[in-house]
Amino acid sequence: MSNDKPVVVYGASGYTGRLVCEYLREFNIPFIAAGRDKSRLQEALDKVPGIDTVEHEIVEVAHDVGPLTELFRGASVVCNTVGPFSQYGHEVVQSCLAAGAHYLDTTGEQDWLIACDEQYGSEMAERGLLLSPGIAQMYTTGEIAANLCLETPGMDTLDIQVFWKGFPTVASTKTILVNAALSRAYYLEQNEYVEWPADGGLYDVVVPGQHEIGLALPWGGTSHPVWFKRDPRVANVKVLGGVFNRPLMLGVPQIVQAVIEQVKDLPVEEKYRVLTEQAAAVRSEMPPRENPRVNTSLDSVHASGPLARAHCVIYGNCNYKQTGLLQAFAANSLLQAPPKRVGFASACQAFGHRELLGVLRGFGLVAEPVLTVHR
Ligand SMILES: NC(=O)c1ccc[n+]([C@@H]2O[C@H](COP(=O)([O-])OP(=O)(O)OC[C@H]3O[C@@H](n4cnc5c(N)ncnc54)[C@H](OP(=O)(O)O)[C@@H]3O)[C@@H](O)[C@H]2O)c1
Repeated sequence: MSNDKPVVVYGASGYTGRLVCEYLREFNIPFIAAGRDKSRLQEALDKVPGIDTVEHEIVEVAHDVGPLTELFRGASVVCNTVGPFSQYGHEVVQSCLAAGAHYLDTTGEQDWLIACDEQYGSEMAERGLLLSPGIAQMYTTGEIAANLCLETPGMDTLDIQVFWKGFPTVASTKTILVNAALSRAYYLEQNEYVEWPADGGLYDVVVPGQHEIGLALPWGGTSHPVWFKRDPRVANVKVLGGVFNRPLMLGVPQIVQAVIEQVKDLPVEEKYRVLTEQAAAVRSEMPPRENPRVNTSLDSVHASGPLARAHCVIYGNCNYKQTGLLQAFAANSLLQAPPKRVGFASACQAFGHRELLGVLRGFGLVAEPVLTVHR
């Protein structure tokens, strides 16, 4: 089937997909809520207050290029929330190319960004389509903070930290394990990727706004080194991330190392099967709906250059809501104006960091950034 709705949310039965639908409703954008199971989609959408006030349709679709292309034909934008994206993303991007739709997703997987850039970036650009993986709290909010620092000329180095409080969803847990077991993590040094040591070691970090020292990890390398590799202002990017919960952080390397050990000699398909099982053992249920008094986020960027320094901190709440809102805002923008860049581009490169900050502020999900500059 082809459709007459401008936006398709693929994975709408999930925690994040449902939030994208909620915010599309607030922008009054008709959409198709698509996924592999019609009853789970219906169950998810039934939980959205006021959903009857926006035109929408629920469509079950198989995860293959043929049926996905048929579904996307007629749509302008696809918001993909089916992760891990390194495992499931290819079919969706290929279908966007075939159907002529812009592609957005919620990834935080560095290897998926690099794959998108290398395999699909130029073809999407030739078609005038945006390929923007990773429009999400991790790491768009930090990218906004970095760009606020870079408004002052003279910076070439970004030292970035991302912290959050809450529970990962089922797919987020699987994504963290798949990413840790199957991919390498890079930072950027003089514009070249350098691999982080794969020893699972924790780093002590100074977390703005608290007295306790935080614990952080390279967290798969994150998106920032990939986006800033193409930014002529920036040569070095290092990112550390984690959860505020210190006992949980202390346990993460052991969980991850045990899983890596378990899958290391298995063939790829077996690896995915065991990683799915292990992730389900860690988390098999949807987390509760976010609460701004509980679920907080912190993105901190120290930018520096030979004679310039800036520090930006963005305190926010409800990471998954931030992600849903950013996706809906991006879709809304694409329905009204071309992006600032086509092909492979980040949220800030495609829509502007001030615009993205404005919408997060407008919906009460981040505080006014704390920015200090010294030159
Ligand atoms: N970077 C960030 O800040 C950020 C924020 C939010 C989410 N994410 C990422 O976004 C992804 C989705 O997260 P989530 O919170 O929505 O997780 P979730 O609640 O577990 O939802 C996962 C969704 O993917 C679908 N799905 C899973 N396996 C599938 C398959 N083989 N074929 C087709 N559909 C499949 C599920 O469908 P069923 O309901 O039928 O199982 C569900 O709709 C994860 O990779 C997560 O890491 C990142």
